[in-house]
Amino acid sequence: MTTSLTDDQLTEAAEILRSGGLVAFPTETVYGLGGDATNARAVAKIFAAKQRPRFDPVIVHLSDPEQLATVTTAVSPTAASLAETFWPGPLTLVVPRADTIPAIVSSDLPTVAVRVPAHASARRLITLAGCPIAAPSANRFGGISPTTAAHVVSQLGDRIERILDGGPCRIGVESTVLDVSGPLPVMLRPGGLTREELEAAIGPITVATEHLPTGEAAPAPGMLARHYSPATPVTVTDTIDSLPAGRLGLLTLHRPASNHDWSHVEVLSETGDLVEAAAGFFAALHRLDDAGLDRIIALPFPDSGLGLALNNRLDRAAGS
Ligand code: TXA
Ligand code: MG
Repeated sequence: MTTSLTDDQLTEAAEILRSGGLVAFPTETVYGLGGDATNARAVAKIFAAKQRPRFDPVIVHLSDPEQLATVTTAVSPTAASLAETFWPGPLTLVVPRADTIPAIVSSDLPTVAVRVPAHASARRLITLAGCPIAAPSANRFGGISPTTAAHVVSQLGDRIERILDGGPCRIGVESTVLDVSGPLPVMLRPGGLTREELEAAIGPITVATEHLPTGEAAPAPGMLARHYSPATPVTVTDTIDSLPAGRLGLLTLHRPASNHDWSHVEVLSETGDLVEAAAGFFAALHRLDDAGLDRIIALPFPDSGLGLALNNRLDRAAGS
C-alpha cells in the first residue's frame, strides 16, 4: 500500500526546499525531515525543529549514485563498489566530506554520511530540488521514528512547511550506516541492509557496538544509548515468568506461550518473518506508547538479518 505523490506535489515541495524550507518526505526506510544540504541555515532549521543536539550529524540524500563525487573529496574503490551494488537502497556511506557540504551537516566532522534512497518519490523530489537533501528521521530527537505521515504530523506537524504523505514505509527501520572513510569498513548502525548482505559483497566488517549515555558527546556520533524511545518505559527480556505489576503491553515477533493478562499485545509477524516485523515495528511501538501502559515488555529478536537492526532499536528504546 503506497500512496503515490503527484509531480505537482513534488514540484511544490521541491520549491520549498530550494528556498531554504523544510519538507518531510517518505523514504523506503522511515520518513525524513529534509532541507537543502548545501544551505547551512536550512540545516540549522532541521536541528531546531527536531530539537536535535548539534553534535549528532545528519545524512545527505542524493537522487543518483553518480552524485557521490559532488559531496566527497575522494570516492574510494570500496565506496564506489558499495554504491554500485546497493544504491538506491537502505545503505548510508560515511565518506570524506567535500566543501560543498557545510560543516553543520556533519557536526564539524571531516566526513559526511550519504545515501540514495530507493523510494521513487524521494528521488524525484531530490531531482526537482536540484540539490543534495540533508534529512534525519522526521521525529523529535529521541522520539520514535516515523513510518507514516501521521507519525510525522504528531511529532513535528506545527514546525515544518510541508509533509508529503507517501503511505507507510516499505522497510520500516533506518538505513545501515557504514563508515568507509578509514582503512576498514565499520558498521556504525545496523539497519535496513543486513550485515549478511554487506559481508557477501565486501567480506567481514567490524560492527561498532558502543552505547553511550544520553546527552554525552559521542565519539561515534549518533550512538546514544537512549534513542527511539517511547514515553512508556520499555523492558527487553526473554524471560516473561516474573513480570512487574501494572498495565503491561507486549511487543513480540511471534505470539508467545504465556497466559499473562496483557493490556495490549503487538505481534509483528505470525510467521516470524523479520522483513514483515521490521515494516511494522515502529508503528507497533507508537501504538503501545499510546495505550496508557505502565510498561512495555519486549522480547528480543533473533540476531540475524533484520533482527540485528530491530534488537538495536529495542535496546535503545529501553535505554540499555
Ligand atoms: O534511513 C535513514 O537513514 C533515515 C532516512 C530519512 O534516510 N535517516 C536517518 O537519519 O535515520 P538520522 O539522522 O535519524 O540518523 C543519522 C545517523 C546519525 O545519528 C549518525 O549516527 C550517523 O547517521 N551519521 C551521520 N553523519 C555521520 C558521520 N559523518 N559520521 C558518522 N556517523 C554519521
Ligand atoms: Mg533518527
